[in-house]
Amino acid sequence: LEGKRILVTGAAGFIGSNLTDALLYQGAEVTGFDNLWNGRMENLESAQQNKKFIFHQGDVRDYDRLLHLMKDIDIVFHEAAFISVPKSILMPQLCNDVNITGTLNILNAARINDVEKIVFASSAAVYGDDPTLPKQEKMRLNPISPYAVTKQAAEAYMVSYNQAYNLNTTSLRYFNVYGPRQQGSPYSGAIAIFIANIFNRKNITIFGDGNQTRDFTYIKDIIKINLLAAESKESAGKIINVGTGKPISIIEIIKFMIEYSQKEGIEIEYDPIRAGDILHSYGDITLAKDILGFEADYDVFRGFKEYLDFY
Ligand code: UD1
Repeated sequence: LEGKRILVTGAAGFIGSNLTDALLYQGAEVTGFDNLWNGRMENLESAQQNKKFIFHQGDVRDYDRLLHLMKDIDIVFHEAAFISVPKSILMPQLCNDVNITGTLNILNAARINDVEKIVFASSAAVYGDDPTLPKQEKMRLNPISPYAVTKQAAEAYMVSYNQAYNLNTTSLRYFNVYGPRQQGSPYSGAIAIFIANIFNRKNITIFGDGNQTRDFTYIKDIIKINLLAAESKESAGKIINVGTGKPISIIEIIKFMIEYSQKEGIEIEYDPIRAGDILHSYGDITLAKDILGFEADYDVFRGFKEYLDFY
């Protein structure tokens, strides 16, 4: 990707900032775009030391801005999003505007500016609560939160812009991502919340009985597949699962985290299941291997240990 001119939306966020650093390391020229709602400038501290990086504060709902920003762009990584399932239940319209209209804006601006490749951050939430496991890309989708609906629609736009305009678009269906820079706010991913509580010696709340499962995917594997997708022609118009392919229950990961971090006195409390939450989720990752040669390097235990070193 050396010398490529790349736009990263959501560049100040958890995934976007880690991706920005990796792209700069590869010698790419990176334009970062973020409205700084969830994103934080401190995530871009090292990027900002690099002359090949430029940051613009703005919103993906602003089409004119995107049209202008994409003038000399070769590749777009679209990571900007309304990211929270429970928050989407409180604010479905805003979630729709950011995730669906925002993505359509990206596609239209990319089409007009002849962008070579668009890699989109989609989500395993689109599978919803269909009991079939592991989740396969071809399954019938059953989104049960507004958030999941927006990701499904955005994916469908990615596919249709490949079909209708021959744009090289790829949607990566991330299973639960965790790692350095994920914020421990009440609306961020579970592992970030658990780790913050463990370090602040606060009790952990489980929504439901703790037997719900997730396929926790370490940020480095997410970066790896994004870089592979960026240079691939075979992934054009495709939707691809990205996970480890292995589930773990919430209670099991919490117990491991508490034990491994050797902090004492942390209690587990139970609250009712959250609206919109799915029960079980892990992915079949054969397609990622077949199309992109991808395999996850980190199971959740290895990933958590590395995450802790950064903490
Ligand atoms: C997460 C991501 C979403 C992504 C999806 C892909 C965030 C905020 N959400 O959604 O963007 O598209 O994965 O699979 O990054 N839980 C507790 N206690 C807590 C927090 C969570 O028990 O304090 C439980 C939840 O009820 C849920 C599980 O942990 O069952 C995972 O929750 P969360 O990390 O919020 O992830 P998802 O809703 O799966």
